[in-house]
Amino acid sequence: MKKIAVFTSGGDAPGMNACIRAVVRTAIYNQVEVVGIMRGYDGMINDDMISLDSTSVANIIQRGGTILKSSRSEEFMTKEGRLKAFNVIKKHDIEGIVCIGGNGTYTGAGVFYEEFGIPSIGVPGTIDNDLYGTDFTIGYDTALNTAMEAIDKIRDTADSHNRVFLVEVMGRDSGFIALAVGIAGGAEAILIPEDQKDEEKLIEMFTLKKERKKSFSIVVVAEGEYGGAARAANVLKQNFPELDIRTTILGHIQRGGSPSARDRILSTRLGVSAVERLLSGGKNECVGMVNNKIHFTSFKESVERQKPLPEYILGMTKMLSV
Ligand code: F6P
Repeated sequence: MKKIAVFTSGGDAPGMNACIRAVVRTAIYNQVEVVGIMRGYDGMINDDMISLDSTSVANIIQRGGTILKSSRSEEFMTKEGRLKAFNVIKKHDIEGIVCIGGNGTYTGAGVFYEEFGIPSIGVPGTIDNDLYGTDFTIGYDTALNTAMEAIDKIRDTADSHNRVFLVEVMGRDSGFIALAVGIAGGAEAILIPEDQKDEEKLIEMFTLKKERKKSFSIVVVAEGEYGGAARAANVLKQNFPELDIRTTILGHIQRGGSPSARDRILSTRLGVSAVERLLSGGKNECVGMVNNKIHFTSFKESVERQKPLPEYILGMTKMLSV
């Protein structure tokens, strides 16, 4: 391979820049030219590219966001959009692609490979940590630290006023952030989209709490599809009208900030391995870290299979909120 492209797509995540840096420098080390595609698949369709050299990725390892920008492209979901993108890729003589993103990014890359045969390697970049084929995704650790610090602050005021705080964290379809942040932030309950009985458990927990006369509490709620913290607040208000309840939605602050050391190292290892795999004939698959070792999974498998949640955490929460 003489020329490859790299892009970021979907929700940005701290550590994406560290990964871009690793991709570019590994390619250059191997005498391969690199271009950056701006704004994910939208930039691919609209021929929005920049050439990248070693200095273009200097001083970015510590920066949040992505220097290549990101988008969730609707046009790439259409056959016409993908054909336009293919013509741009051909025009630039790009022989392989490293795409950094989440589920939507992998779905697009898999379809693109099947239709046009351009080899792609995916790198898991999403704060949600919900991708099958890797224990950790880029940005997850930083997001956890951001949310945990926010919860520590909320805890101070919750304690002063004897209030119940429902803290909503990100994780559109999954409870990975909520579970980990709930443990790190000492939450008394954690509500996740995967748990069908979360309302029942919340009521049970607050009934116990009433008996034990515990003063304040922190409940971490994953945004999920069913109304996140607002829904949980309604459930509590209806069942325990005496409670003084407040709701805090942490939102996009979880997506920003300088990546943690753990995220920078993960991003770098994954970026290096993605390029090495592409150069040694890899295609149509994504790189991940399983038991601290580099691991590859096909796009199809990663998209179709659901990553199991660490269920032991749920059991622990029950014990620890006594
Ligand atoms: O996929 C990452 C994520 O941050 C989710 O946790 C969240 O639901 C979603 O992106 C928000 O997306 P957007 O920034 O497009 O509103």
